[in-house]
Amino acid sequence: MGTLAIAIVSYLTILWIVLGGYHIYSLLFSTPFYPSRVKHLKEAFQKLGLEVTKSTNFVDLGSGDGRVVVWAARMGMKSTGIELNPFLTFFTKIKIFIYRLKNAKIKNKSFYKENFGEYDIVYMYIYNTHMDKLKDKLFEEMKNGSIILTNTFKFKNIEPDKSYKRFHIYKIKK
Ligand SMILES: C[S@@+](CC[C@H](N)C(=O)[O-])C[C@H]1O[C@@H](n2cnc3c(N)ncnc32)[C@H](O)[C@@H]1O
Repeated sequence: MGTLAIAIVSYLTILWIVLGGYHIYSLLFSTPFYPSRVKHLKEAFQKLGLEVTKSTNFVDLGSGDGRVVVWAARMGMKSTGIELNPFLTFFTKIKIFIYRLKNAKIKNKSFYKENFGEYDIVYMYIYNTHMDKLKDKLFEEMKNGSIILTNTFKFKNIEPDKSYKRFHIYKIKK
């Protein structure tokens, strides 16, 4: 085998180990990547009466491959993704670049380290264990009138203000 072939095989092996390791880590300690269906999200926005403008500040906590971030930006919102996994973050950056989205950005960090004060809509498709850990921080930092939209999971001991199929809305009232 030539040097180039050895280099390629080594590179692919390392990549496979790193990606596999990340997947096992997220299965054990966080929420693994499983994408939202944008078609369903769009329908939920309509049915739940969520109106958006150019100044609506949207964030996806644990934004995966960025499909929701890109969708929100293409809907006209100011859109942010927060994602721990550097590979998914990089993939999102490429998508934002390809679509030339000036109103979208991605942050490679844990959502536990974000301040939610500036957001009008916080979207979450993460396990309820994480939702419950974030609950106090979200309800403390988010401003009056802003909204938490969750996919599939709900907060323990708080009833949503509105639900449509698997989507639930919690309004911040201060
Ligand atoms: C179920 S996926 C949802 C992806 C995306 N929001 C969507 O709806 O298509 C959950 C994502 O949260 C990310 N994640 C898990 N824990 C995180 C944390 N503490 N901070 C940031 N992202 C996290 C995972 O890497 C995964 O991509």
